[in-house]
Amino acid sequence: PVTSSVVIAIDGPSGSGKSSVSKAVAARLGLAYLDTGAMYRAATVWSMETADLDDAASVTTAVRAMPLVMGLDPAAPGVELDGRDVAVTIRTTEVTTNVSKVASNLDVRAELKRLQRAIIEQESTAAQAAQSGGRGIVAEGRDITTVVAPDADVRVLLTASEEARLRRRSLEVHGAADASAVEATKDQVLRRDQDDAKVTQFQVAADGVVTVDSSDLDFEQTVDAVLAVVAQVTGRE
Ligand code: DC
Repeated sequence: PVTSSVVIAIDGPSGSGKSSVSKAVAARLGLAYLDTGAMYRAATVWSMETADLDDAASVTTAVRAMPLVMGLDPAAPGVELDGRDVAVTIRTTEVTTNVSKVASNLDVRAELKRLQRAIIEQESTAAQAAQSGGRGIVAEGRDITTVVAPDADVRVLLTASEEARLRRRSLEVHGAADASAVEATKDQVLRRDQDDAKVTQFQVAADGVVTVDSSDLDFEQTVDAVLAVVAQVTGRE
């Protein structure tokens, strides 16, 4: 019988492999999975549809009323806005280009932090864990280890060299990692990290946060490295 639940917080820059690694860790341990970047992306879609992106107050008002439902199954993590499946829409280049604007709005951050904490709380209380058969949650983003869940049982910063991150993002977006494909992803990766770094600190591990550098690891090795940290901290395999 499960007697305790676990909260695992994972932060990292874009292209670090954070999302796929976090999903695999959650699936392996039978935990729920929360993609907080998807929440900022959904907030961007909703703001583009119902507010003026250049008017911070109108974006804040829109996000506070956003009808967002996050699916927490690591095998099929859904994102619904007003009953619409927006899992594909939130990954478009247009949304990726605009997301830092929405994520730098501090009132938006406060609102999403509140929602994220409520989800983590719900998935990690004993009663809920027993009811859903769940044993906690893996939450990933930029400020989970530091701001959203600084008390998480396990906190990991997943890093990778700039070169490795550009190569991965390029393969993901263009299906190739030759010089011109890599060049085309530079704005999405480096410019966005620069913008994101103005409001969240995810380049250096905070006190008590374990760094996993995936530059020279493949996907399975990275998942194993994170699972090793979890096992070491919680005794959970
Ligand atoms: O991880 P991602 O690329 O899907 O994240 C999308 C954007 O959301 C990213 O540019 C930064 C922002 N974000 C954030 O500010 N805080 C988080 N906890 C997660 C994402």
